[in-house]
Amino acid sequence: MKPNKPGKRRKTGVRAITAFAVVILAMSGCQPSGKKKSTAAHPGSRYFTDPVIAHKVDSVLSLMTLEEKAGQLCIMGAGHPHLEQLVKEGKLGGTNGVLPDRNVARYTRQMQKLAMQSHLKIPLLFMGDVIHGFQTAFPVPLALAASWDPGLVRKADSISAVEATASGVSWTFNPMIDIARDPRWGRIVEGAGEDPYLGSLMAAAAVRGYQGESLASPHTMMATAKHFVGYGAVQAGRDYNTVNMPERELREVYLPPFKAAVKAGIGAVMPAFVAFNGVPVTANRFLLHDILRKELGFNGIVVSDYDAVPELEEHGVAASSAQADVLAMKAGVDIDLHSGSYLQNLPKLVKEGKIPESVVDDAVRKVLTMKFELGLFDNPFRYSDSTLVVNYILPAGHREAARKAARETFVLLKNEKNILPLGKKLHSIAVIGPAADNQLNLLGPVHALARTEDVVTVLQGIKNAVSPWTKVSYAEGTGYDMDSESGFPEAVRAARNADVAVMVLGENNGMCGEGDSRASLQLPGNQLDLVKAVVKTGKPVVAVLVNGRPLAVNWLNNHVPGILETWFPGTEGGNAIADVLFGDYNPSGKLPVTFPRSVGQVTIFYSHLNTGRTFDPDNKYTTRYVDMPNTPLYPFGYGLSYTAFSISPVKLSMQNMSWNDTLNVSVSVVNTGKRAGTEVLQLYTHQQVASVSPPVKKLRAFRRVRLAPGEVKEITFPLTRKDLAILNQDIQWKAEPGTFDVMVGSSSGMTISAGFTLNKP
Ligand code: BGC
Repeated sequence: MKPNKPGKRRKTGVRAITAFAVVILAMSGCQPSGKKKSTAAHPGSRYFTDPVIAHKVDSVLSLMTLEEKAGQLCIMGAGHPHLEQLVKEGKLGGTNGVLPDRNVARYTRQMQKLAMQSHLKIPLLFMGDVIHGFQTAFPVPLALAASWDPGLVRKADSISAVEATASGVSWTFNPMIDIARDPRWGRIVEGAGEDPYLGSLMAAAAVRGYQGESLASPHTMMATAKHFVGYGAVQAGRDYNTVNMPERELREVYLPPFKAAVKAGIGAVMPAFVAFNGVPVTANRFLLHDILRKELGFNGIVVSDYDAVPELEEHGVAASSAQADVLAMKAGVDIDLHSGSYLQNLPKLVKEGKIPESVVDDAVRKVLTMKFELGLFDNPFRYSDSTLVVNYILPAGHREAARKAARETFVLLKNEKNILPLGKKLHSIAVIGPAADNQLNLLGPVHALARTEDVVTVLQGIKNAVSPWTKVSYAEGTGYDMDSESGFPEAVRAARNADVAVMVLGENNGMCGEGDSRASLQLPGNQLDLVKAVVKTGKPVVAVLVNGRPLAVNWLNNHVPGILETWFPGTEGGNAIADVLFGDYNPSGKLPVTFPRSVGQVTIFYSHLNTGRTFDPDNKYTTRYVDMPNTPLYPFGYGLSYTAFSISPVKLSMQNMSWNDTLNVSVSVVNTGKRAGTEVLQLYTHQQVASVSPPVKKLRAFRRVRLAPGEVKEITFPLTRKDLAILNQDIQWKAEPGTFDVMVGSSSGMTISAGFTLNKP
């Protein structure tokens, strides 16, 4: 395969050489100029491009014992019994699991002081799962993707970096950029949904958010693209299960976000826990070396997932932990996360000739380079500042950013007879449901240092928003996952006595995320029965969904006039939800993932192929179910607004596009309603005939368009043949001449199309 363009070069700030480094340089008798061998060995990568750093790294490396080298390749949990001893002996690269200790800054400082007592004073890295905020919780990544606003992701992740680095955390195990098309998989909540184009934009935005322009800049931290690759396609949607995937699907769907992250300069990549086509990724040289390193040009750190190296034994490909280490090292796993197995085995394996020392050296070089890039050799305490951290405990600006972010992520799924927005001067509102007055479960499954007590509940948000004379009553009704109906009568009473019932329903933190796959996509427990009981009162009902995956909410769709999807909205969730419920913010979110009617339709996604037997209601020998339509409940890209938009027919700058032409696709969009609002215009293409079966549509571009009432804007999307490329039979991305449909609309299910021809070169 032809290697793709290597990752974008990033400027590395040349920092002053510390006294310590000067000693080393002097000892090694080298000058910090001229290219070292390592520099030339990695042309075009983000590493080893700075000869000064490369020189310093080699100087440090030349002084290290084999044990110290093995130590640099180990990250162990903060709770490890011999951690302090290992640090003093210089046998540890860094520590994870420092969250959710409240005194992270003090802890990281103390540990760094110990590292400064070691032989070579190599600073430690501190890392954690900073996924959607640190002290201030932003909406979960799936929600952020629903904003269709990469700028928002960048902003949220840069705030996370500001807060996390003040505590000494210099490395996050995020973004998770696994494409996920199976809502049973609990980790769908951590990613950007089903589409590789949207997912790639979000991946690049996250890298830029965490890492900024350069890791040398203040308030930036190293990011990790995880989990390489295909983890979202675990069989049966069950976490950690096997992945079997044709190369076409790998390259068309699951690889593009990683390509985008590498191009954006990602510092680290984490292999998935799973076996991919029979070979666990942690030992999969084809994926980690041939594709990630050679083809994508990644030259950062590959860090194993938690205990994934010794788990190679359980996968049945290694007979001992030593053999597991050999497999992982040879496949290209630089750092062993948590198990300590590299530290235990690598020195012996090198002495026995089972792993060449040069392989260990290359891995250590990457770790040291990162420590130099992060500025830790210049100032090991750069990231642990107990005084600074005080400034970042929920500053008003971060809260405000979280509130603004959250409301951008909400998706209005239904709004019959404009039941929403609600009036602030209603006489009474009943707020009902397990998620209504719950702080913890607005945060989502992994929420770093975000404190439950700082979360604004939906009930509180509603109380904050309404007029002083509006009566707000509350009844939990039921729990998240309960059988008992003992709370129903109180909820029904509250609804009866109110003008409207706002039901806040969904999943709790423990139902999504790692290890939390579900076999059902229904509202858990008896929440639906509660809704039925409340709807029976005849009072208008609005459902607010708080959850981390697509839910099959058919009954709600058929019987409840207003439905707002709010995901896990974070610290300011309640205020943000109230902003939308009462019309202070007009929702503009769009689904980043298809909502099925039933779990039986899974896997369902918009960008599928045609079959040879397209659905025909009058012919049973066409692709269909006997008990359900093929179509989803809500398609990818779907989401309503409090205003209405009308989109003109699609205009093309040419009907016949030459090989090197740019085709301009234009539509006019007008806000025909009475409120200002934002429409996310989506452009899809479909090639009518190609050498491989083309998807029915594929997202190629989108634009968020803000319009005042009555305002019209003409939006133009330029398309070149690169945007029309398909993965051909030779597994090459190439455009093929032919006829195309280009579709523009407000969702993958609502588009207006035009046709054009791409002519032969
Ligand atoms: C997860 C990773 C995470 C790591 C460290 C693993 O179980 O799969 O995504 O970064 O733990 O917490």
